[in-house]
Amino acid sequence: MIVYLLKKVVLMLVYLVKSKKGMRITAPNDLSWFLLIFPLIFQVISGATDSIEAGKSIRDGETIVSSGGKFELGFFSPGNSRNRYVGMWFKNITVTTVVWVANRDLPLTDNLGVLKLIQPGILVLLNVTNGTVWSSNASRAVENPVAQLLESGNLVVRDGNDHDGQENLLWQSFDHPTDTYLPGMSLGWNFVTGKETYLSSWKSNDDPGTGEFSFHLDPTGYPQLLIRKGSAVQSRIGPWNGIRFPGPPNPKEDPTYSLTFMMDDEKVYYRSDSVDGSFVSRYTINQSGVSQRWTWVDRTRGWVLYFSLPADICDTYNLCGSFGSCNVGSSPSCECLDRFVPKDPDGWVRADWSNGCVRRTNLSCQGDVFLKYSGIKLPDAQRSWNKATMTLDECRQECLRNCSCTAYTQLDINKGNGCLIWYEDQLIDIRTMTQDGQAIYIRMAASEADSGGKKREVVLIASLVSVMGVVLSGLSLFLCLWKIRKNDSKLSKLGKYKCDEKHPDLPFFNLSVILKATNHFSQSNKLGEGGFGPVYKGVLEEGQEIAVKRLSKESRQGLDELKTELIFIAKLQHRNLVKILGCCIQGDESMLIYEYMPNKSLDVILFDQTKSRLLDWPKRFHIINGIARGLLYLHQDSRLRIIHRDLKAGNILLDAEMNPKISDFGLARSFGGNQTEAQTLHVVGTYGYMSPEYAVEGLFSIKSDVFSFGVLVLEIVSGKRNRGFSHSDHSLNLLGHAWKLYKEGRSLELVDASLDHKIYSPEVVRSIQVGLLCVQQNPEDRPTMSSVVLMLGNEGEIPQAKKPGFFTERDVLASQNSSSTDAANSRNEVTITMPEPR
Ligand SMILES: *[C@@H]1O[C@H](CO)[C@@H](O)[C@H](O)[C@H]1NC(C)=O
Ligand SMILES: *[C@@H]1O[C@H](CO)[C@@H](O)[C@H](O)[C@H]1NC(C)=O
Ligand SMILES: *[C@@H]1O[C@H](CO)[C@@H](O)[C@H](O)[C@H]1NC(C)=O
Ligand SMILES: *[C@@H]1O[C@H](CO)[C@@H](O)[C@H](O)[C@H]1NC(C)=O
Repeated sequence: MIVYLLKKVVLMLVYLVKSKKGMRITAPNDLSWFLLIFPLIFQVISGATDSIEAGKSIRDGETIVSSGGKFELGFFSPGNSRNRYVGMWFKNITVTTVVWVANRDLPLTDNLGVLKLIQPGILVLLNVTNGTVWSSNASRAVENPVAQLLESGNLVVRDGNDHDGQENLLWQSFDHPTDTYLPGMSLGWNFVTGKETYLSSWKSNDDPGTGEFSFHLDPTGYPQLLIRKGSAVQSRIGPWNGIRFPGPPNPKEDPTYSLTFMMDDEKVYYRSDSVDGSFVSRYTINQSGVSQRWTWVDRTRGWVLYFSLPADICDTYNLCGSFGSCNVGSSPSCECLDRFVPKDPDGWVRADWSNGCVRRTNLSCQGDVFLKYSGIKLPDAQRSWNKATMTLDECRQECLRNCSCTAYTQLDINKGNGCLIWYEDQLIDIRTMTQDGQAIYIRMAASEADSGGKKREVVLIASLVSVMGVVLSGLSLFLCLWKIRKNDSKLSKLGKYKCDEKHPDLPFFNLSVILKATNHFSQSNKLGEGGFGPVYKGVLEEGQEIAVKRLSKESRQGLDELKTELIFIAKLQHRNLVKILGCCIQGDESMLIYEYMPNKSLDVILFDQTKSRLLDWPKRFHIINGIARGLLYLHQDSRLRIIHRDLKAGNILLDAEMNPKISDFGLARSFGGNQTEAQTLHVVGTYGYMSPEYAVEGLFSIKSDVFSFGVLVLEIVSGKRNRGFSHSDHSLNLLGHAWKLYKEGRSLELVDASLDHKIYSPEVVRSIQVGLLCVQQNPEDRPTMSSVVLMLGNEGEIPQAKKPGFFTERDVLASQNSSSTDAANSRNEVTITMPEPR
């Protein structure tokens, strides 16, 4: 439209000029007249370009643009197609991204189409012979209709005389989406008209026609989100839990969106509104049935994938059959729920899980009990029954009363009430979820209630998990508090966090700041995966680089007591401990914000043939000393004894000057007073760094940290990993090899071949001897960190080292097998932990 009008204006001006003064349009006064009037004309034209008035039209080549310039509507040809479609796209985004197509199934074959608004309020697409190719509908007739492209990406037809009549629209494109959901759209059902608003994929990149995949809010049973291929369900999210549809597409506590869910006799719909209008995002379903949320990032000029569904094999609908549970972490992916067995054991072994599982013990109806299964995605609720006004206990009674009731759960976790019941003896499409998982109570024969087997394990794990949860939530705060003093003034100036009122020292970051800094935790920002969650790189608005550790879900309880307790721990600070800039605890998201370490972790450099050259001996010795001092501080100098429990090269971060910083206190455990030893039921740590008494008996003490430190020293000297070390002459591991050379007086042969260490020989020999002292079999023989620091500094006598613990690989494997079954499977340097706390 602009172009069209502009052409006319220019032609008119040229004509005027020509007719008055011949061809001399370069004459100064002609030109100034032109320059004077041109902006005025332009303003008038551009002011009107977001609408089409009654009787007016736009033709191929013309467009209308929403008032803020975000969206544009006009004619286009997708991909390699020559067909013409009327569609809408983002105007200011360099990658043309079509978000809506009017005549998706009815293309024009030439560029002579016209989009016209006719009385009493209908948009029609006319071809060259004035035949109607496509038209909108009007819910009522008005005298002066107007079609307007809104800044939200909604094309509406409204009553032009009704100036604030945004509510009372005649028609809107948001009711007829194609493959894209834009913030502000409502997906769902109008039960009165029987109309559903849902997304459906394009046929191909060249054809926006209705494809086979679709994305629905399905109210059958209880509302869930479904991806369908034709009518078959492919993936499912939900059911609605009162706050969101649990699962990836609805991030918890996402401050950039406000969610609305409406359900009554007339309608059910789901809407997310963008809180910040400048934020550009869209949700699509593509031609392979993958639904994705995308966010535009100006800095990189590209769409960043925020999440994708299906995300993994467990998002495949009903993969594991009835009472089967899918777990991406395990192999094979399907397991029967506890106390269930495969219905078709032969098929199950062949990975044919379709027959699912059945109860180990049949129900007897009378005297049945309910067992709780937690941390799962609730089963398909299409054939469920619900009542919003019941309590969980009434729900249980209701289920107990009817023998065909299989399971029940709470309907609304927000209000903490309601009842959702499954009547068929089939619960399908269950998966384990580490985030957002829920609990369900499944009917069982009374004899299963206290039968041993896995149950004790469940209880045990549950209690360990809750302990870890407390430790973890404690630690996040601890780290927070600890950081305060260092960065308090700096951060206050930046105004980046709000403080806890009771503890003005706690630096809390706002979730929105973190989301922005990390591109919404995009995959490309991911630095790695630690023991207790992934780590992302981020850039704060002022340009400061940060690393964000997103802790897995933890217990919300006891936060207040912990805060008090942690005020003490907050006093901890040391230049060889990694700096924490703050934390973010919002909803049940907890994150730690660290200073970003440009040189990443020690293992990345040390065990890389090329990069290890960056570490000459003085640097290595500096690193050894730094780690020793950091650990000494944790063990002795701080008011509370901290045992790290997972000291390894991957947990030593290096700053720009290669100063070592101990990180990842996810496994640390604080002790009051002089308690120095404790026993744990479940070994936590990394094989290769674990002391024998810890790996075998679960005994940990500051001396188990000393052992890990010794391993680290020998690795730094040799540039080789203890785990996976091999030598042609013998089957010893790095510790055994170092000890053998030491006994034979050939210690210097252990040193990394790339090192020029001649002039530093005494330091090298001393380090090796200290390393060997630290890895001695008997914990009592190992030195404390304070003597380690002294010995490294060449003060005092260094005793002879005795035989190390775990000095052959077989040694290690044998003890691992006796201690834990996971151990044999995990040969890589991964921290072994318990199931995530919930
Ligand atoms: C919309 O158009 C269809 C067919 O063109 C018609 O069946 C339907 O009743 C119309 N709806 C309204 C609200 O006018
Ligand atoms: C749909 O998205 C998935 C995931 O990004 C991608 O692998 C697939 O190729 C896409 N399908 C099409 C037809 O573009
Ligand atoms: C359990 O019930 C099934 C189906 O009703 C039956 O086939 C099976 O024999 C029963 N098992 C036992 C141990 O009673
Ligand atoms: C049990 O529930 C089923 C399914 O809702 C229903 O058909 C049946 O009548 C109920 N039985 C009793 C005894 O209430």
